[in-house]
Amino acid sequence: MSFAASDLAAKCPDPAGPGYVAAAQTQFNCSSARDLVGGAGEREFRARFDFPTDPPSAVNLPWKNIKFEEQAEAYLGALLAYGIKDNSDPSIDWRIEDNTKSRWCHAPWFHNQRERLRGMTLERGARIKELHSGQKSQARNWAVGFYNDVGCYSIGKVWKDQAFPKTKDFAFLDGAYSIKLLYTTASVAEVPYLTGSKEWIAAINNDGSVERMRLLQVDIAVRDTNADNFSGWLFGTFIYDAYAPGATVWEKLVPVGLMWGNDPDLTSQAYEERGGTPKQAWLNPEVARKFFDLPRHNLGLHGRVNGPVDNFKAACLACHGRALDWGRAVLRGTPANDEANALLPLAPSPYDDASVKNYFRNLKPNVPFVAGTQPLDFSLQVSGGIANFRAWVATAFPQESGNTSDVPPYKFKSDGTTSFSQTPDPSIMRASERTPRAGGNEQFIRGED
Ligand code: HEC
Repeated sequence: MSFAASDLAAKCPDPAGPGYVAAAQTQFNCSSARDLVGGAGEREFRARFDFPTDPPSAVNLPWKNIKFEEQAEAYLGALLAYGIKDNSDPSIDWRIEDNTKSRWCHAPWFHNQRERLRGMTLERGARIKELHSGQKSQARNWAVGFYNDVGCYSIGKVWKDQAFPKTKDFAFLDGAYSIKLLYTTASVAEVPYLTGSKEWIAAINNDGSVERMRLLQVDIAVRDTNADNFSGWLFGTFIYDAYAPGATVWEKLVPVGLMWGNDPDLTSQAYEERGGTPKQAWLNPEVARKFFDLPRHNLGLHGRVNGPVDNFKAACLACHGRALDWGRAVLRGTPANDEANALLPLAPSPYDDASVKNYFRNLKPNVPFVAGTQPLDFSLQVSGGIANFRAWVATAFPQESGNTSDVPPYKFKSDGTTSFSQTPDPSIMRASERTPRAGGNEQFIRGED
């Protein structure tokens, strides 16, 4: 089933009928379940879930002929140009339902986390001095991501039946692409390079009230078979810099780096005692130098690629290699959730070489980070959406938990002691109505660490 964007109402309506299927469809098609207070005159976010049902042509992918290992900057430039071409046009301004030139979609099942005006979800906060030496207060960061038609096609296969998603053998096709805009509450007084950046009003406060935010970082991920010797994906990022040449905000996006491999052997010892640096990546030395003066020193662990907003103990590709489906709900506050967090850490302990090597493996798209789970091909939005869905089923329709996965449920050691389907954590439901992070398990949230 597919829906036109105009069919989707903001704030979840009541289900069309009784029972599980109608409730699941209503949840799925909801754009945002969060409150909106103020923001007069602002347009509301509408999720776009009208996924292509046939594989889109992948012939016009402008990065395909660029050798990323030799020309990383050119490759990055082609990625950015493709993503902003139609969507950044002022008449669209990332309202992808208005884009008639190219087809884009959102990832489903984030309605409990998406704020009402731009569909943004909570990201990791920027600690004092993480963005700039003048940053005196913690900044809040929120983001919204978009998939191209090739990516949307595979997401559509998962959610063809909105009440019974299918994740078995999930894989993206060559050319699947996602771009994500990260906005911050940091002020230009504390972070001067944000001067003149693009501003959005977003309803990020828990009471639904709005804040003015500025574009700080643009993330891109692409499935490219030319990188199949590594993980088959490239991750790159840009930072807005007021002092960069260029007439528009988009021209002032400076490339930060591009990674196609995780440099699995770059441990703390290799980095600190043998001068090791990442080889399966390109990092813009001018950007890296600016961040080296800050307490964090590096953007990603031991100089790996990551964005200014990101956890400096992690890196793009490695964190995304953790995308998987447990085949069941993993509810907060349960022993299974503690096990899941240990098996699938958000970031490694930098001085534990075994932990670093495990985190920075070069996994293939069909190999899961945790053996015995279904890999979700580097998409943390697909895995986060599935996790949110499974948590909702286990809480609102626990009797359906066993019927709604086409992959076997992962067996946690604690399973004998506590059954997730019999003792749902009541805080999940309460929380999922209000707080940005609830309804899913923390392995798939970039927010906290
Ligand atoms: C510590 C974990 C972590 C790191 C590091 C990280 N991400 Fe993500 N990323 C996430 C999570 C979780 C999501 C899904 C939720 C969301 O969109 O906020 C996500 C979503 C995305 C998306 C949307 C599509 C998708 O794959 O889910 C893109 C594109 C993306 N990230 C790119 C990047 C890039 C580029 C970097 C490095 C500059 C990066 N990420 C670093 C956790 C991470």
